This record gives sequence, C-alpha cells and structure tokens, in this order.
Amino acid sequence: MPEIVVEGVSKTLGGLLTLAEINLKAGDRDFVGILGPSGCGKSTLFNIISGLMQPDRGQVYIDGRDVTGRMGRVSYMRQKDLLLPSLNILENVSIPLILRGLPRKKASVEAAKHLHQFGLEGFERYYPRQLSGGMRQRAAMLRTFLFSSDILLLDEPFVSLDAITKRKMHAWLIDVFKVIKPTVMFITHDVDEALYLCDKIYVLSDCPTVVKLETAVPFCRPPHGRTIVDPQYGTIRDQVMAALEI
Ligand SMILES: Nc1ncnc2c1ncn2[C@@H]1O[C@H](COP(=O)(O)OP(=O)(O)OP(=O)(O)O)[C@@H](O)[C@H]1O
Ligand SMILES: [Mg+2]
Repeated sequence: MPEIVVEGVSKTLGGLLTLAEINLKAGDRDFVGILGPSGCGKSTLFNIISGLMQPDRGQVYIDGRDVTGRMGRVSYMRQKDLLLPSLNILENVSIPLILRGLPRKKASVEAAKHLHQFGLEGFERYYPRQLSGGMRQRAAMLRTFLFSSDILLLDEPFVSLDAITKRKMHAWLIDVFKVIKPTVMFITHDVDEALYLCDKIYVLSDCPTVVKLETAVPFCRPPHGRTIVDPQYGTIRDQVMAALEI
C-alpha cells in the first residue's frame, strides 16, 4: 500500500482554478520529486498534504487513513522556512520538541544529540545570521526532522544555495537519509537535482494544474555522489524538460 495517496485534489485560490485535479502516490521510503512552473500550485499542494489547507475536492490518505485537512502527520519544511532570528540554533531546533510537550531543558538535551549528524556541532549558540546559507538550511532541516514524522515534505530546501554547497548538501542528505529512512516529497525547480535525488518524479502543468508526467528514476543517488552515467539519464532528462516546456 502506498504511504501517501493524493486523490483527485483540486483547489481554487483567489478566484483562479489552481489545482485542477492532482493524483499522486509515494510508497514507503520513496523519495518523490515534484517539478512544475512557478505559480502552478506546488506549495499549495504541500499545504494540502500537510493538512494546513483544505482542498475544494479530493482526499489525502496516509497509510490508508483519510487525513484530508488534518495536521500533525507529516514534517513539513516550508518554502520560506526561516529560523527565528532572535533564537540561537539549539533553541530554534528545539522548538518541535517543546511543542510536543518536552520541558525546555530536556528539549535542548534531546535536540543537541542530533547536531553532529546535521553538521552543526559547535554552533549551537550561534544565531541564524551568524551561519552560512548551507548551515541555516541544515538547521531548518533538523528542525523539520525533529517534528518526528517518518514523512518529510521539503519545499525547495536548497533553492538559495550556490552550486558547490548544493552538491555537498545532496551528498549529506543521501547519507542522513540512509540512517533515518524517511518517505520524502521534495519540490524543486532543478531538473538535475531531482534526477540525482528522487526515485520518482512528477511534473505538474501550468494552471489549471494536472500531473503532466510521472516517471521513475532508476539511477538516482549514485554511490559516493559521483556523476550519473546511466544511458537512460539523457532520455529521462529530456522527457522531464519537455514536460516542463524548457
Ligand atoms: N492564500 C492564497 N490566496 C490566494 N492565492 C494564493 C494563495 N496562496 C497561493 N496563491 C496563488 O496560488 C498560485 C499557486 O501558488 P503556489 O505558491 O502554490 O505556487 P508554486 O507552484 O509553489 O510556485 P513557486 O514555484 O513560485 O514556489 C499562485 O498564483 C499564487 O499567487
Ligand atoms: Mg512554491
């Protein structure tokens, strides 16, 4: 049974039919990429899957249960997931544990255990403004992870990073996910990033938005972060680019 099923979801925003009808699935521990033109409703779709927003029609099922409009089942890193500037990194990443009812002190101790894995050890007392872009992204990712769901929705998590930092973050993400093994849905505008990380890709159309292409990516996550040399790479990349009309 697929872990996440989005069935016939539609949404009108500001009088404009944004999501016309979206159907998609993610299996247990799948890494699913969502691509589509700016404004087609990708973030809206994640708001619906996370339960922050109700669809006009359609359902969201997780593990076979109808969770449409219900929050709390997934960990969601939003597109503008800014860390709180007045809190240091340890305080920022402790927030989900405090929200779950842990006393502040215990939350800090628990959160601190994960700093090493997310490359933030030694920086716990730094404020967001004192960190590099990559470190801020990792802190936001750790905070998302500490919401403690086995399902992560990541909305363009690496968008503001330079190419080298982005590549390092990919290698880091692959290593971390080998340990924590979540199911991931990942929005990106970067076709190569999607081909590199995701084992399935959905391309969405312009508004009114439908799924334009669904394709498996059999060669993703090459060992040791090397270049993908699979002969299917070019074919699948071309299909995705054609669906995006670029
Ligand atoms: N709360 C809202 N009220 C009215 N319109 C909204 C609301 N949220 C989003 N929209 C509109 O819905 C459309 C889809 O927005 P959304 O943010 O989901 O797109 P997106 O695919 O994530 O775009 P991008 O790639 O630029 O992040 C846009 O036209 C946007 O202006
Ligand atoms: Mg968006």
